[in-house]
Amino acid sequence: MTSTHTDSFEARLDATARDVAATLETLLSPMHLKGEIARPDHLMAAMRHGVLNGGKRLRPFLVLESAKLLGVPHDAAMRVAAALECIHCYSLIHDDLPAMDDDDLRRGQPTVHIAFDEATAILAGDALLTLAFDILSAPETELPAEIKLALINQLARAAGVGGMVGGQALDLQAEQAMPDEAGILQLQAMKTGALLRYACAAGAIAAGADNETLTRMNRFGEVIGLAFQLADDLLDVTSNAATMGKATGKDAGRGKATLLSLHGNDAVRRRLDMLVEEAALLLDPFGARAEPLKQAAKFIASRNR
Ligand code: IPE
Ligand code: IPE
Ligand code: MG
Ligand code: MG
Ligand code: MG
Repeated sequence: MTSTHTDSFEARLDATARDVAATLETLLSPMHLKGEIARPDHLMAAMRHGVLNGGKRLRPFLVLESAKLLGVPHDAAMRVAAALECIHCYSLIHDDLPAMDDDDLRRGQPTVHIAFDEATAILAGDALLTLAFDILSAPETELPAEIKLALINQLARAAGVGGMVGGQALDLQAEQAMPDEAGILQLQAMKTGALLRYACAAGAIAAGADNETLTRMNRFGEVIGLAFQLADDLLDVTSNAATMGKATGKDAGRGKATLLSLHGNDAVRRRLDMLVEEAALLLDPFGARAEPLKQAAKFIASRNR
């Protein structure tokens, strides 16, 4: 990959991040919607702190690019992207709580429980989780009803007990008893992989794509989901808080189960290269139009933020 490619990919990612932030800003308006009674100022402020605080917006990028590849209207895709980002941000707010990873810094700012308080951080996460399903199901998400139902159902499964939340539970359990490699792969596929897989599959679901395409996009999502967490684990030991905007060097101390803890940095780097190749192969049938998604796979594996 030439540096020009990398630069143009990062520019595209940053431009998308700005568009997504603008949409989230509107969706997190303090003004209450029809059917709501009121939006408490303090809770709204905490939700906004946890969402409108930078972030690469990688999951929204994957939703928008896979939707574009498969011909989904941009406005509908943007709402799916925003819903998913609300769930991701909620997962970070809860992940940082004292009872979980106990982190003070996120995206270069104090975590929500530090800037506000623990109870408010818990509630801000709860409200963001619910807001995601409001965004998807609302009439403003202009997609056929059966497609919206499928998007909602798959998001619930990616986020819930059999997906991200289940993975977080396994991650905490693994601090007590280190799982074997298969166990680590499963917990990573759940805690991080499930939302990233959804990000890649959502475009295909929204497009009403055939089974072959759905399977291909799901598999692409699984591959980059694993790459994403491997890179995160690597960055925990190789990077620093100033670059990452979150504490580093913590996983080993907390006894986090990672492939790195089993096999070391070099093996993880080799695994990352293989995953990028596999991701690219999966996208070959789409030709040059899939280039942004291929670049995303490379970015995920070799990112420094
Ligand atoms: C961090 O996700 C949490 C993990 C799943 C490892 P990101 O690295 O995508 O965080 P932001 O959204 O850019 O802050
Ligand atoms: C977090 O994994 C995954 C979720 C938030 C679901 P980590 O705990 O490794 O994420 P960071 O390193 O705090 O961002
Ligand atoms: Mg964690
Ligand atoms: Mg954490
Ligand atoms: Mg981490």
